[in-house]
Amino acid sequence: MNNDRIYNFNPGPAALPLNVLEEIKASFLDFAGTGMSVTEISHRSKWFDDIVNDAINRTRRLLNLSKDFHVLFLQGGASLQFSMIPMNFLSDGRSADYINTGTWSTKAIKEAEILKKSVRVIASSEDKSFSYIPKDIRTSPDAVYVHFTSNNTIKGTQWSEFPETKGVPLIADMSSDFMSKPFDPEPFGLIYAGAQKNIGPAGVCLVILRDDLLKQVPTHLPSMLKYTTFASTNSMYNTPPCFAVYTVQLVLKWLDETIGGLKNMEAINRTKAGRLYDILDTSDFYRGTAEIGSRSMMNITFRLPSEDLELKFVQEALENNIGGLKGHRSVGGCRASIYNAVTLEAVEVLTDFMKTFEKKYG
Ligand SMILES: Cc1ncc(COP(=O)(O)O)c(C=O)c1O
Repeated sequence: MNNDRIYNFNPGPAALPLNVLEEIKASFLDFAGTGMSVTEISHRSKWFDDIVNDAINRTRRLLNLSKDFHVLFLQGGASLQFSMIPMNFLSDGRSADYINTGTWSTKAIKEAEILKKSVRVIASSEDKSFSYIPKDIRTSPDAVYVHFTSNNTIKGTQWSEFPETKGVPLIADMSSDFMSKPFDPEPFGLIYAGAQKNIGPAGVCLVILRDDLLKQVPTHLPSMLKYTTFASTNSMYNTPPCFAVYTVQLVLKWLDETIGGLKNMEAINRTKAGRLYDILDTSDFYRGTAEIGSRSMMNITFRLPSEDLELKFVQEALENNIGGLKGHRSVGGCRASIYNAVTLEAVEVLTDFMKTFEKKYG
């Protein structure tokens, strides 16, 4: 690794593939022979059209999406989706099911409630501080959709199998595990992911939307808040976040061509997570906070015997060129976020450091 760079375990914005950053650097002043930076070209140009279309096509190919799905690039982060989803799909008299597995699901529920939409929380893991993924979920047959968060970035839990809904469309916030493994897109009506964890920089949110849901969008919403506006303009109703979309395109190209697709990505991610969970499971010093059957492959959350030691751990890691290990401010503890772009080498550096730290203070 380039010695000036850190082993980056940030939860998001997070590590990007080194060769993507190098490609951006190499072409930054003169993109594709245009004599301009990619941040200077018009979003109405053929160059930018090619970027958007390549990003869409690679998303389709990587996820094996049928023609029924639209791929959109929106702004406002994943958080705006918490509001747009109920605004666009929950008409008066209709109701949606929500599953509450942590901070982000709670926020999604809250936004629907602010809009005075009818929301049923059909399952929750709040009783045990969101340390697990609920099982035996019973969805309502009359729900317009079932919303869940596929990976809970703060608590380090992840769905290994998605809820069974008997035909009711699933809607998932996949911000922190999007493109980390293959899955069947067919039961989904909508998938959204803020780019800044697995597929790019902050500033763009990728949305995958099934055509039958798109057709339900009412006309009376403000243009910027309805999916039809972006579906009918190839996400270019107004100026899109061009640089963020460009970076997403390069990350998807890397996933596609360098990694070789989501099956390979999953194998790498499993190996990385396995190395870290092995440490947690064989030590009395480190303690994982997520229940074993609900553990995330992306965010590994753990505690040390005291808060003082946790502070020291984060500080000494940084002195050893390992960054981003502090747990979310709402829960404390430690967290290693090992998104797609975090290499096995980085994880091995971290596990070596963890062993040394335990020997010293354990
Ligand atoms: C699962 C999940 N959903 C939503 C968000 C919020 O995303 P944004 O900051 O893009 O609104 C985050 C941010 O960390 C997240 O981890």
